[in-house]
Amino acid sequence: MTVINGADSAFEAALAACAAEATAMLDRLLPRPEGPEARLIEAMRYAALGGGKRFRPFLVCQSARLFGVSSEAALRVASAVECVHIYSLVHDDLPCMDDDDMRHGAPTVHRQYDEATAVLAGDALLTFAFDILGDPETHERARVRIELVRRLAAAAGARGMVGGQMIDLTSEGQTLDMHGITRLQKLKTGALITFSCEAGAILGRASPEPLQALRAYSHDLGLAYQITDDLLDAEGDAAMMGKAVGKDSAVGKATFVSILGIDRARDQARMLADQAVQHLDLFDERADLLRQAARFVITRRN
Ligand code: IPE
Ligand code: IPE
Ligand code: MG
Ligand code: MG
Ligand code: MG
Repeated sequence: MTVINGADSAFEAALAACAAEATAMLDRLLPRPEGPEARLIEAMRYAALGGGKRFRPFLVCQSARLFGVSSEAALRVASAVECVHIYSLVHDDLPCMDDDDMRHGAPTVHRQYDEATAVLAGDALLTFAFDILGDPETHERARVRIELVRRLAAAAGARGMVGGQMIDLTSEGQTLDMHGITRLQKLKTGALITFSCEAGAILGRASPEPLQALRAYSHDLGLAYQITDDLLDAEGDAAMMGKAVGKDSAVGKATFVSILGIDRARDQARMLADQAVQHLDLFDERADLLRQAARFVITRRN
């Protein structure tokens, strides 16, 4: 299990419980490695079941809780967004992108298998996410399923995560300004985090006001999450992180840390986390774990 330090222990327990449930759901939903394509499915399962904090599933489950959504439906949507996240990491680690050998304390998929298998496993995880969302078991109403499919597609695509990855790669060796870096991070990391926070409201057919509040919360949370990722790359411990550190500055990546320096980046993350919590004022104590998530995001050690 992933070790998390620096967060409240009740929060840690809730996150770990959700991670276990999300992993069990992924295990149940993912195909079994049989037939001539078994190698592909093995690689998908290796990537998806091998660790990770399951922070996006946690956000889906907590936002769903606010609207009385069943945990089965929430965990299905949580699994879908996690498949997209995992695929993004499998491709992010490829030699043509960040060229990383370790992820979650184990060899990356292209290291464990080979590059072609890693590309295909990523492709299959991405499409599998939409298979899950489109299944009537996720929600009985086709309109809700279509809304989830469209929003996840937008969050993952050219104006979302993949667009952010493109800017991340082309910004190597360049100096972005604060506007540029904020846009990069909003797309690369923020878009999937926003989807995860909206998903519960969509499943629960919430009114526009709480949906908007969750969206505003997610914007600050997502930025704080990526600033911490950048800080951990600069100062974190590779063994604790289960992945290499020091890579961003080695290749000249534009990050909040490269622009602001360590101290101001940390201040910015703190400010964003405080701001995120304020957007939750209209919710009762059922949003307390989402409030605590903002603190977790800036104190996590991996
Ligand atoms: C890593 O994300 C890459 C980013 C988008 C910041 P996570 O830190 O959430 O990845 P897990 O927990 O290892 O899955
Ligand atoms: C990855 O960002 C973001 C996505 C995969 C969308 P990073 O390249 O900073 O993530 P790590 O540090 O390798 O986990
Ligand atoms: Mg990257
Ligand atoms: Mg990377
Ligand atoms: Mg990083």
